[in-house]
Amino acid sequence: MPRDNATFEPVRDWSTYPPVQETIRSDGSLGWLKRISPVVLTHRWRILWSVVAALVAMVAQILVPRVIGLAIDRSLINRTSGLWFFMVFLLILGVARAAATFGYRYGLYGMAFKVEYQLRTLLFQHLGKLSFSFFDRVQSGQIISRANSDIRSVQMFMAFAPIMAVQFFSFVVAIGLMAAISVPLTAITMIALPGVFAIGQRLRKIMFPLSWVIQSRQAEIATVVDESVNGVRVVKAFAAERHQIESLARGAERLRWANMVQHWTRASHTPFIENLPRVALAVVLLVGGLQTIDGSLTVGELVSFNLYILLLQAPFRFIGMLLILGQRAKASAERIYEILDEVPAVVDRHGAVDLVPSGGHVTFSDVSFAYGTEIVGGTPGKESAPLVLDRFTLDIPAGQTVAIVGRTGSGKSTIARLLMRFYDVQGGCVSVDGHDIASVTQTSLRAAVSLVPDEPFLFSTSVHDNIAYGKPGASRQEVEAAAIAAQAHEFILDLEHGYDTVVGERGYDLSGGQRQRISLARLFLSDPQVIVLDDSTSAIDVEIEERIHGSLSGLMRERTTIVIAHRLSTIALADRVVLVEGGRVVADGTHQQLLDGEPRYVETLAASLGEDSW
Ligand SMILES: Nc1ncnc2c1ncn2[C@@H]1O[C@H](COP(=O)(O)OP(=O)(O)O)[C@@H](O)[C@H]1O
Ligand SMILES: [Mg+2]
Repeated sequence: MPRDNATFEPVRDWSTYPPVQETIRSDGSLGWLKRISPVVLTHRWRILWSVVAALVAMVAQILVPRVIGLAIDRSLINRTSGLWFFMVFLLILGVARAAATFGYRYGLYGMAFKVEYQLRTLLFQHLGKLSFSFFDRVQSGQIISRANSDIRSVQMFMAFAPIMAVQFFSFVVAIGLMAAISVPLTAITMIALPGVFAIGQRLRKIMFPLSWVIQSRQAEIATVVDESVNGVRVVKAFAAERHQIESLARGAERLRWANMVQHWTRASHTPFIENLPRVALAVVLLVGGLQTIDGSLTVGELVSFNLYILLLQAPFRFIGMLLILGQRAKASAERIYEILDEVPAVVDRHGAVDLVPSGGHVTFSDVSFAYGTEIVGGTPGKESAPLVLDRFTLDIPAGQTVAIVGRTGSGKSTIARLLMRFYDVQGGCVSVDGHDIASVTQTSLRAAVSLVPDEPFLFSTSVHDNIAYGKPGASRQEVEAAAIAAQAHEFILDLEHGYDTVVGERGYDLSGGQRQRISLARLFLSDPQVIVLDDSTSAIDVEIEERIHGSLSGLMRERTTIVIAHRLSTIALADRVVLVEGGRVVADGTHQQLLDGEPRYVETLAASLGEDSW
């Protein structure tokens, strides 16, 4: 029970969140409902009893006009039976209808929210499997809006569709009961049906593309908001708030327009669908009234008949709603399927084994790589992408520390990403201790090889949890030892709550150097066999870096280390320096050897030192 925001607690906090086993059908040519059926049918019993309850509610409702008609004829006009009998019967129908309505609403909404949970979990599980090449391409606002508003519109349809199906059934039953009273009058009632059908078809045709447009415009807005918040430092630095507000306003205006068209369409179609049957009401009153006067129809029968026509209004209203919700859910489902149908580019091979590292001997042999050429959904991407690595060959014996030096854009970070198998190579092979990394499991590879990226990412949890991210059960002592090695212990103790301080989103309340030291501590704790530091000490003061070198070289003794750096102090740490240019190794030796005999090395160092002081 929420008392106020600060003490709000969820009513029930699950200790385990069951993974979702069932998934959508992969055949993209099937209709959207068929594709989602394995997920929905996990609730088949719930759907069944809800529909039964809904039928009970409908029958209870449909009997009312008939009972009222009989009450008028038998109790009021012919006085053959008592009024109380009909009253009690109507009361029972009312109670039955209330109970059954509660039952089916509870059942169907419960089902729809479970489907929502399943879809969202499926989507997230799938996102976890997708590779970097996917995230390089897709805007996070798109993913956020698909996980929110698109899933919600599918959920709404799930809750309503069975009710509508029952409504349709009640429509048929009502027609049957009407025909039992008078076939000609029933035929008159039906005159509007072809018109309703035609308008419904038209509405359906317009609604589908419109719903698609609306959902994608919502995603556009989500993207602008996402970028304005995540990029707020750039926005402010360039005083570009106006620009961001303008792009948001443009998106909001585009969404408003599409929403207006949708509501205009809806407003101009649904009244006809709902009210065309009322035309019949007038004709029925005329014809039925004449029949009552000449005695071929009783007053009670005429009253029930008119009540039925009014009752039929509800199914007609629902037809309009079903068309709108259905088209929206279809558009949304297809947007969700777009992500679920995305095939992960990097996958464990069939029969992949765990890598058991022994020393950390890293080899790149004839590796060729270009971005954006991964195979997407069975077809290779663009072929013309420039090669970032061109038959790149480098052998790093176990335990060695190698510095990779090269100009910006020469492919240094790419080398690190390929060793982590964030992308698959297009030619050649990367291996660790003699195992092709494409033939081992990704989990075991990433346990053996660790990367500290140039832009370290912190989660908005405590410093302790950030350091222990790769080893969640780590004790405070272990975390502190890692932090001491990374020269982070002292500044962490100065934070307001020490290791329990919660860092702001992405750790922006810490300095760049502090963030780098926390991610170094994260690496020290996870204890990998091969370490890759991608410019990971660039924001750390030279004196502190020197102290880190002490612990790093202690750590490096039994490990292979690849340092991507352009600072002399960092390079000096390495046994060997490799100069990368044009996607290949162009010089290889100690720092001193390269300084003495390789003019390109001196040039590159001079250029990157220049960048550094910039
Ligand atoms: N995710 C990516 N998608 C497409 N191209 C990329 C991507 N990352 C890097 N590149 C390109 O690959 C080249 C090498 O980049 P990178 O390995 O980051 O260089 P370095 O780390 O040496 O500065 C650059 O031309 C860069 O534009
Ligand atoms: Mg880089």
